[in-house]
Amino acid sequence: MSEPIDRSAPVYVAGHNGLVGSAVVRRLEAAGFTNILVAERHEVDLRSQLHVDTWFAAHKPQYVFLVAGTVGGIWANSQRPGEFLYDNMMIHGTVVHSSWVHNVKKLVYLGSSCIYPRLANQPMRESELLTGPLEPTNEPYAIAKIAGIKMCHAYRRQYGCNFVSGMPTNLYGPNDNFDLETSHVLPALMRKFHEAKLTGSREIEVWGSGTARREFLHVDDLADACLFMLEKYDEDEHVNIGT
Ligand SMILES: NC(=O)c1ccc[n+]([C@@H]2O[C@H](COP(=O)([O-])OP(=O)(O)OC[C@H]3O[C@@H](n4cnc5c(N)ncnc54)[C@H](OP(=O)(O)O)[C@@H]3O)[C@@H](O)[C@H]2O)c1
Repeated sequence: MSEPIDRSAPVYVAGHNGLVGSAVVRRLEAAGFTNILVAERHEVDLRSQLHVDTWFAAHKPQYVFLVAGTVGGIWANSQRPGEFLYDNMMIHGTVVHSSWVHNVKKLVYLGSSCIYPRLANQPMRESELLTGPLEPTNEPYAIAKIAGIKMCHAYRRQYGCNFVSGMPTNLYGPNDNFDLETSHVLPALMRKFHEAKLTGSREIEVWGSGTARREFLHVDDLADACLFMLEKYDEDEHVNIGT
């Protein structure tokens, strides 16, 4: 599919209040989309196939961005592994399945770079997926994300669905989560430095050994990539999205 997408087509952004979802909504609005569909969590719990299916039947989205999930940094992942696995498996399962049932023309799913093995060759290429053990601290989350990619592949193969997957690196930007117990590394660092400046503190505590290599991407650049994938990318393989 490389023809431009009709700007009045109904496009559903699952997870529209989040860091990524709100950036995707901003990007779609800027690109002239006039029929952006969203649903609040109290209307549609994305873990419920019944909720999701009923909502899809009523609103008939033609395009879907699946950018919802239970998300967090090392601390949240280590404290709530059951939730990270269950919520994300369910959210991916329900939205992908209903997208097939309701003939969605294209779905863009977002995984995460933590799907790659802990000791993956650098820079991490798409072919590194499932070549070694995962980072133990976020293994349940990564397993759910890998299942999401494989579900898109399986529905492409079995049902001919145009479902594609992008794997963003660490993100930052407006609507980020700055809670020190649940945030990702960059918003946590920003908050710690900001508070140290406000209080005049000369030290902050930074977690980790200092040897980890990280890549950070502004969420608006990711939103550009999401729109690009919607309009231009129709292949089977997931695509890394980084700087
Ligand atoms: N942030 C990053 O650095 C990063 C990096 C790589 C990949 N990603 C991927 O990008 C996606 C979005 O991440 P994010 O950082 O934008 O997360 P976020 O800011 O926490 O937003 C998650 C969104 O999902 C919604 N949601 C969660 N569970 C739901 C449920 N059961 N029913 C309905 N809505 C639900 C939330 O709704 P509420 O507003 O109601 O809570 C929120 O809108 C995830 O798939 C994540 O893996 C993120």
